[in-house]
Amino acid sequence: MPRSEGPPVEDEPVVWADDVTISFASVSGRVDALTSVSASFGPGAVHALVGPTGSGKSSFLRVLAGHDRPTSGSVVVAGRVISRMSPRGRRRVRRRHIGFVFQRPAANLFTYLDVTEHLRVAARLRGPYDAAEADGLLEALGLADRRDHRPAQLSGGEQQRLAFAMAAINRPPVLLADEPTAELDHEAGARLLDSVGRLAERGTCVVFATHDPQAQERADRVVALDHGKSKAGASPR
Ligand SMILES: Nc1ncnc2c1ncn2[C@@H]1O[C@H](COP(=O)(O)OP(=O)(O)OP(=O)(O)O)[C@@H](O)[C@H]1O
Ligand SMILES: [Mg+2]
Repeated sequence: MPRSEGPPVEDEPVVWADDVTISFASVSGRVDALTSVSASFGPGAVHALVGPTGSGKSSFLRVLAGHDRPTSGSVVVAGRVISRMSPRGRRRVRRRHIGFVFQRPAANLFTYLDVTEHLRVAARLRGPYDAAEADGLLEALGLADRRDHRPAQLSGGEQQRLAFAMAAINRPPVLLADEPTAELDHEAGARLLDSVGRLAERGTCVVFATHDPQAQERADRVVALDHGKSKAGASPR
């Protein structure tokens, strides 16, 4: 059973984590980034993953996306138990079902591609490239006049919006984003959150980690982590 608080998930969850523990070996010993966390995330909703720095938000998102495997426990995405799959199998599920935004914007980008080329590559991983959709996204995110810029010619906030646009293009069933508004001012953050809302309205299951009160306010549901554990009392919205 999911242990995170929140309203009952009426639709079948698209993303499901059951009793997930993530440990890292380091020179100073074992670090438990997450301990026995269970949560489920339904379609057509925006979920905010909150918690203090170091509470395991990024580690959890990476495991939900199949970038990493949990040390124990299961993760199911779109009906597949990705926590049991090989890296290749996880890549296949991710490509088809998941848009992902890393915490550091530069980690999402390619040095020699301009903005339009980034969107074309991202779209083609999931299906056809629709130039009108790409234009609409760039317009909505305030990047329309940056189409021919490469990452080094973009500000941090522009890089972050491009990373989000890449994850959102072709409307994946699942969008996982790690602090997608961290580099943005209030207005740019609000525009990005509008795009998030539009995706959820059309069925995408969105989960983002955030410290941003505005982003938390706009979520349908808040899942709180505290020192690597699900926190009782995570506020349903
Ligand atoms: N590869 C790794 N090796 C060792 N420890 C790690 C590794 N990745 C994360 N950790 C540790 O796991 C804990 C959780 O890290 P994580 O990045 O998931 O936190 P977070 O909630 O995303 O924090 P922030 O809000 O600062 O982004 C931290 O204590 C971190 O130092
Ligand atoms: Mg993080």
